[in-house]
Amino acid sequence: FFNETVKLPLAGKKVVVTAGPTLERIDPVRYISNFSSGKMGYAMAQAAVELGAETILISGPVSLAPPAGVELIRVESAAEMLQAVLDYYSAADYVVKSAAVADYRPKTIHEQKMKKKEGETSLELERTTDILKTLGEMKTTQRLVGFAAETTDALTYGKGKLESKNLDWIIVNDVTDPAGGFGSDENVVTLISRSGIEILFPAMEKKELAKQLLTTIVQEGTDSL
Ligand code: CTP
Ligand code: CA
Repeated sequence: FFNETVKLPLAGKKVVVTAGPTLERIDPVRYISNFSSGKMGYAMAQAAVELGAETILISGPVSLAPPAGVELIRVESAAEMLQAVLDYYSAADYVVKSAAVADYRPKTIHEQKMKKKEGETSLELERTTDILKTLGEMKTTQRLVGFAAETTDALTYGKGKLESKNLDWIIVNDVTDPAGGFGSDENVVTLISRSGIEILFPAMEKKELAKQLLTTIVQEGTDSL
């Protein structure tokens, strides 16, 4: 018999995956968040493990069990996610940013429960840091993979984000497509590289899709460095 050791495509590589929503506190009983289930990000982390990577999963609040073999880091807010990602960034070979990061947070977190007041109808917000854009600006040898969840002109907006955030790949997701999107076990996406590759993946289970996406990304490499 031949006793060949098959080398997995991500053996010896470090992959950081972010997943889920972020949660931005208003007061002790209220918050701003979004409908991200974390399923796509958890599937990407599982795929990274299966392809042999040392995998760090940085997760916002979700109700999913972490895939076996990942190092799980739980965070709540965009600010915490930024800090956690930066802690692992210099050692990472790939960063996959599946998380649905809040774009805004309340300007102040109230220590006591806010009381309704006559005539007071708005909440003052401020922008969060764009984590992926920050990573793009700091990029040295890392491969950066972003997601774009869109409800209209998905490919145009996706390509804009690929450029403006200095990414190597973007996975574009039309969340109005009934076959995919938030909460669903299935997804349909287009994978686009900085070097001009564009591949439409038909609707399939998020776990299978994640494996196909990551395999393609690792095989194709990138011209953007
Ligand atoms: N992203 C991030 N930090 C933020 C906002 C977004 O890292 N504060 C990342 C997401 O994880 C995703 C990518 O940027 O990989 C695109 O997120 P998306 O919300 O689609 O794009 P935005 O740049 O926030 O633009 P907009 O929401 O206005 O469409
Ligand atoms: Ca956003």
